[in-house]
Amino acid sequence: MDDRTQPSTPTFNAEQLRSDFPILASRSNGKPLAYLDNGATTQKPKAVIDAISAFYGQTNANIHRAVYHLAQEATSQFEDSRRKVQRFINARDPVEIIFTRGTTDSINLVASSFGQKFIGAGDEIVITALEHHSNIVPWQLLCQRVGATLRVVPISDRGEVLLDQLPAMLNQRTRLVSISHLSNSLGTIIDVERVIKLAHDVGAKVLIDGAQWVGHFSTDVQQLDCDFYVFSAHKLFGPTGVGVLFGKRELLEAMPPYQGGGDMIRTVSFEGSTWAELPNKFEAGTPDIAGVIGLGAAVDYVTANIDFEQSSKYEHELLEYATRELSSIPSVRVIGTAQHKAAVLSFVIDSEEGRPGIDPHTLGTLLDIEGVAVRTGHHCCMPVMTQFKLPGTVRASFAFYNTRADVDQFVAGVKKIVSSAQSSVASAASTRPESAHVEVMYAAPAASSPALAAAELESDFALFDDWEQKHEYLLDLGMKLSPMPVTEKSEATRVVGCQSTVHLSARKRPGTSDTLEFVADSDAYIVKGLIALIERVFNGQRSADILAFDTQAFFDRLGLGHHLSMGRRNGLSSIVVRVRKLATLLDAHSSSQKHSSNESSS
Ligand code: ALA
Repeated sequence: MDDRTQPSTPTFNAEQLRSDFPILASRSNGKPLAYLDNGATTQKPKAVIDAISAFYGQTNANIHRAVYHLAQEATSQFEDSRRKVQRFINARDPVEIIFTRGTTDSINLVASSFGQKFIGAGDEIVITALEHHSNIVPWQLLCQRVGATLRVVPISDRGEVLLDQLPAMLNQRTRLVSISHLSNSLGTIIDVERVIKLAHDVGAKVLIDGAQWVGHFSTDVQQLDCDFYVFSAHKLFGPTGVGVLFGKRELLEAMPPYQGGGDMIRTVSFEGSTWAELPNKFEAGTPDIAGVIGLGAAVDYVTANIDFEQSSKYEHELLEYATRELSSIPSVRVIGTAQHKAAVLSFVIDSEEGRPGIDPHTLGTLLDIEGVAVRTGHHCCMPVMTQFKLPGTVRASFAFYNTRADVDQFVAGVKKIVSSAQSSVASAASTRPESAHVEVMYAAPAASSPALAAAELESDFALFDDWEQKHEYLLDLGMKLSPMPVTEKSEATRVVGCQSTVHLSARKRPGTSDTLEFVADSDAYIVKGLIALIERVFNGQRSADILAFDTQAFFDRLGLGHHLSMGRRNGLSSIVVRVRKLATLLDAHSSSQKHSSNESSS
């Protein structure tokens, strides 16, 4: 370890803790893995992986049901986890810990059950503009169901919740305030103590979304005096598929069950059923037993190894270092500059005089080649992106096991990408100067059928050895895409379902009955490349041929299936769906025309 990697926080040794996480020693695209997507999920220490494996290898049985030894042991480990979580967040009573599938499930449970009992027509729920979709949509659905109103506390351009506006939004009809402890998209830390006090003053309950908080700072639900606190195991170095709902006992007791099924009942008859006591009333069906035991192991790991006061200080130093280094790169704009901020660094690369912007999707894909894992897009916070008038950002989010070496790899990657984008765009511009097109220029078909056009591309791709070369080729194709006039870019031509902004405009080729031609464009260089591939294969082709072509198999043959599968949010799937839909319409139209001309001639 050289000077640069030496953490300045005394006694906190990230390098040593790192070795507990096997995946962090792996390589990605031939480079050391710099894992900076801890906001999406954290990595798992060996202790957690071993606990899950040991459960399946030695203890697997269903819980709460049988008398044999294995079942008793499984039940006891499961319930031990509940007590570990109780102590970890300092809940009063283990029955206040309900195991769910994750933060989203926990919020939906409260929206459904608390909502059914305590929220009616004319009532109000307060959230903020900083929330994750999982803390927006369940409340919207509830409001629609019962006729309640959702009120939203706005945020500033620094990404801070304007809490001074909260008192004016609270009143006797406010039933619940639901707010995150730490923003996943910008890293803002919210003064939830203040929110809880203000909400309680009007008799409202408070739910805190602690998904991003629990793995970085200590949590004390009694001290907070919140009514509900929710989080996911997988952001606390535990497994996916398991989450926690803490609720004050008297509230949980007053709430009706969320789901019906085994283990949540006391008696069942056709005349009516009665419910089990807490916590079982909210845990219908066989839970993720191994996952809950894995969460217990994660809590043990964190409790034994991490002093959150030290680790959060260390993470903050990493954030400051990364922010400083990244900000020295021209055109980088940090999004989210709250005064109280955790180790989440969201940013964009703007276009400036003589310098191209780089969309988050492209930047994230290129950073992957450098071994750096970051998240790109709207981070499930579309309203936050709307505030900043952005489709998305690149987000690096840190954990205690990250080091300055990770930051250096990340910043070096961004520098390299920015300077190479600058030179590629400059050379593309010199061969094809931009002009203000007002007419759509449809390209001629690349071959006489989609299959032949695809075969040509496949033989080009066969020349490339690795993803980096394919990727360069894609960027090149994208740069040469015929430009789409600005006047064609409207809501009607917008292809939804893409992380970037994509437009596609099509028509029936003049003089034909069933030939589709189209132009498309995106603000993301990578997506432009994908569009170029789709255009080569489908533009100027007969609708029946387009519909008969297996696009997924084609992308798999190009070797892009892994990086650019149809399910990924690069929009490829949405673009192909749009092309196929247009081809279907054209096909139906041309068949009905043939049909009616046959009828009139017979
Ligand atoms: N909510 C997680 C994130 O912010 C998935 O990435």
